Amino acid sequence: MLRICDLSKIYGRTAVLRGINLELKDGTYCLFGPNGSGKTTLLKLVSGFEKPTCGRIFFEGKEITGYPAEKTAKMGIAIAFQIPRVFWNLSVEKNLFLASKDKKEVKDFVNLFRLGRELEVEAKKLSQGKLKLLQVAMAFATKARLVLLDEPFSGVDAENVRTMLEILKEMKEERSMIVTSHRPKLLRGIADKFFELRGGKIAGSYENPF
Ligand SMILES: Nc1ncnc2c1ncn2[C@@H]1O[C@H](COP(=O)(O)OP(=O)(O)OP(=O)(O)O)[C@@H](O)[C@H]1O
Ligand SMILES: [Mg+2]
Repeated sequence: MLRICDLSKIYGRTAVLRGINLELKDGTYCLFGPNGSGKTTLLKLVSGFEKPTCGRIFFEGKEITGYPAEKTAKMGIAIAFQIPRVFWNLSVEKNLFLASKDKKEVKDFVNLFRLGRELEVEAKKLSQGKLKLLQVAMAFATKARLVLLDEPFSGVDAENVRTMLEILKEMKEERSMIVTSHRPKLLRGIADKFFELRGGKIAGSYENPF
């Protein structure tokens, strides 16, 4: 599904990613590692929000290295950012409609993500937990086959973390995912494999590190 070859990203004088190699079949993967280890950068390179300094990326057999985000989106890759990017002045329903373009599907996502009570609430008025749920719902609503979730649990209260986990468990059956998290343990029983990023390199890969 995704193949990453010798991928590096250098910002100024800082080598954030240094020769990443990954070959991922369809499935759900967790990426963990200390602050600043390059998790977000890796997701931005795959989704085309940043360009690599060198190396290559292939999605479903096609090279996508350096493709802009609009193009990777069309090819079936979506990302939910660590710092939410939504249409702040639009309601939950309208945000979801912009992602999905299908009224019936919006209803399904509203139910699945338990956003029924917030349907008409503007995104800027949502709690942090509901906002994360909306953002993740929007990524899935694009029908992307590979969904990148950057820290979907950060700043989310316990109840909404439970909701998020139930959803990921369900979506795992039909989509591929790469999820970054400071709390990889939460993904026990969901992620097929865990990758540890350290010093810009893959420092370990585990079926179950816990
Ligand atoms: N646009 C940029 N320009 C310069 N440096 C950057 C840029 N984006 C990220 N960095 C640096 O790259 C390093 C890795 O950042 P990144 O956000 O990918 O780490 P992370 O593993 O996601 O961290 P966190 O756990 O805090 O989310 C950090 O040192 C950061 O300061
Ligand atoms: Mg990050």
